[in-house]
Amino acid sequence: MNSLCESSSLSYISTCERSYRNKSLLVLPVTRVRISSDVKKSNSRRRGAGLIIRASATVSSEEKRGMDNNNGKEKGWLQKGIAEFYDESSGLWENIWGDHMHHGFYDPNVTASISDHRSAQIRMIEETLKFAGLSDDSSNKPKSIVDVGCGIGGSSRYLSKKYGAECKGITLSPIQAERAQALANAQGLGDKVSFQVADALEQPFQDGQFDLVWSMESGEHMPDKAKFVNELVRVASPGATIIIVTWCHRDLLPTEQSLKPQEKQLLDKICDAYYLPAWCSTAEYVELLQSLSMQDIKSEDWSEYVAPFWPAVIRSALTWKGLTSLLRTGWKTIKGAFAMPLMIEGFQKDIIKFAVITCRKPE
Ligand SMILES: C[S@@+](CC[C@H](N)C(=O)[O-])C[C@H]1O[C@@H](n2cnc3c(N)ncnc32)[C@H](O)[C@@H]1O
Repeated sequence: MNSLCESSSLSYISTCERSYRNKSLLVLPVTRVRISSDVKKSNSRRRGAGLIIRASATVSSEEKRGMDNNNGKEKGWLQKGIAEFYDESSGLWENIWGDHMHHGFYDPNVTASISDHRSAQIRMIEETLKFAGLSDDSSNKPKSIVDVGCGIGGSSRYLSKKYGAECKGITLSPIQAERAQALANAQGLGDKVSFQVADALEQPFQDGQFDLVWSMESGEHMPDKAKFVNELVRVASPGATIIIVTWCHRDLLPTEQSLKPQEKQLLDKICDAYYLPAWCSTAEYVELLQSLSMQDIKSEDWSEYVAPFWPAVIRSALTWKGLTSLLRTGWKTIKGAFAMPLMIEGFQKDIIKFAVITCRKPE
């Protein structure tokens, strides 16, 4: 890593940690969005605390990557890039961070130590389940779960063990699917948990099959958010809980038509590094779920709770083990590492939001 990146990374770390420690706990209120007749216009108005917020995707990225027309060439380019990125980087991530490829959930009142990061990732799962109203001892424990964008199956195995449920995971990366299955087999979960390479936008499952539909940090990769949400709803059984934890851009103000050019520029750089299509706001996800008549829709901004994550990832990349492992991977992973400070910048500038969104499919 060159000195420019290294020094900027370190200054990002200290700034982020300072602001993280100084800020008090902040959870934004549940988002309520009025549905517009055409969700793709993304001109919903949010009425909470007297605010009206209009949401829209970053149009330049959308145009660049053909998000809405989703033609075969663009889709093929994106899917190939995602598959290769995770084929290449998953071993390195597992080696340093373990089997959960998602942010940790941190207590804003406690300075995170290195050993806290793994438990913070588990806490992310537990807090998400709590937010969605799935308690440990409830009679409505899920029996059949789909893990959409499963990585190497950390959530699938965790949820299967917790609930004694069957779980099916899908990913675009063949290496992830193979590793996820090997870990499940090694943990004696081979008869309950299975993984396959499949597209979240065309899931290989029947309608109404799962009573928990789980998507932990995969939504940001989806080039067509409406189709993505549609598929999550389609495979959910009546009464099922649907959970989407994902990166969003900030909700727009009523006076705004789109993000500011410099905000789009930052997101575009992140898109290039992590194989992401255009971003959307949390309000747009809520609007999509409302348009499909989902019930008990809730969303929250958890950006404050994940603040120590990227500084920790950068620190781990700057260790001897991190650097040597990184150099052994490939260009896609190295490019991803260089983009990590941009994520911190995005969160600090309130452009990026870490969103949790849940709902229930009507009985
Ligand atoms: C950041 S990882 C998250 C992994 C996992 N959910 C976890 O928390 O450990 C993103 C995952 O989304 C998957 N993904 C991205 N686009 C996908 C698509 N269109 N269909 C299926 N999986 C997809 C990737 O293959 C990868 O496994």
